[in-house]
Amino acid sequence: MKVMAIIGSPRKGSNVDILIDKVIEGVKSKAAVDLEKIYVYESDIKYCTGCGAHSILQGSKDCPLGDAMDGILKRMQQADALIFGSPNHGRTISAGLTNFFSRMMPLLKMQVGRDEEGNIIYAETKPLISGKKAVTVVSQGDFAASSSALLLMVLDANLRDFHLRKVGEVFSTGNLKRAQVKEKEVDLNLAFETGARMAMIK
Ligand SMILES: Cc1cc2nc3c(=O)[nH]c(=O)nc-3n(C[C@H](O)[C@H](O)[C@H](O)COP(=O)(O)O)c2cc1C
Repeated sequence: MKVMAIIGSPRKGSNVDILIDKVIEGVKSKAAVDLEKIYVYESDIKYCTGCGAHSILQGSKDCPLGDAMDGILKRMQQADALIFGSPNHGRTISAGLTNFFSRMMPLLKMQVGRDEEGNIIYAETKPLISGKKAVTVVSQGDFAASSSALLLMVLDANLRDFHLRKVGEVFSTGNLKRAQVKEKEVDLNLAFETGARMAMIK
């Protein structure tokens, strides 16, 4: 099973990374795994400039930024499952993961319908990663789950935009300190079980 994990935390080896590793452990308990981890803050992933080159209005051209994202998008299309992890940063997903989703836009192939004068009268997106299994992993500092209400909406909406099939969610609270989730057996078990389930779902 080809799994790509996107770590949207700038803290390598910390809460989000630890939970993602547990999800992967769970997957490995049920299937042989070909794994790629992408640390968005360490990879050569430039900021989206909003040029719109990929859009149908500009001829669906390749992204001109020419960084690691070209290869990542190709390998995403070959993956069986994707894991997206983010810390709560200011009540939403991290800036790194926000940019990563923006840079995924070339995967949204658009089809348009036009009227007799050539005006676009409808548009439909056909994501190149439609139907792939996905799991989300979120860690926050606050104990109140409501601190991530917006974050969860944003994360799920992005998954929906790419027509991903969300098969599980790991959500852990009270992790203000680095790697604090290591002490949370319940959350680590949830992550493991989520991974095992993802491997078993066809
Ligand atoms: C810039 C920044 C903003 C944060 N904002 C929030 C917040 O709004 N609500 C919250 O519960 N935790 C917030 N936190 C805490 C992190 O979500 C928490 O420590 C999380 O476990 C970090 O995961 P990591 O260790 O994998 O980076 C914030 C942390 C940082 C660095």
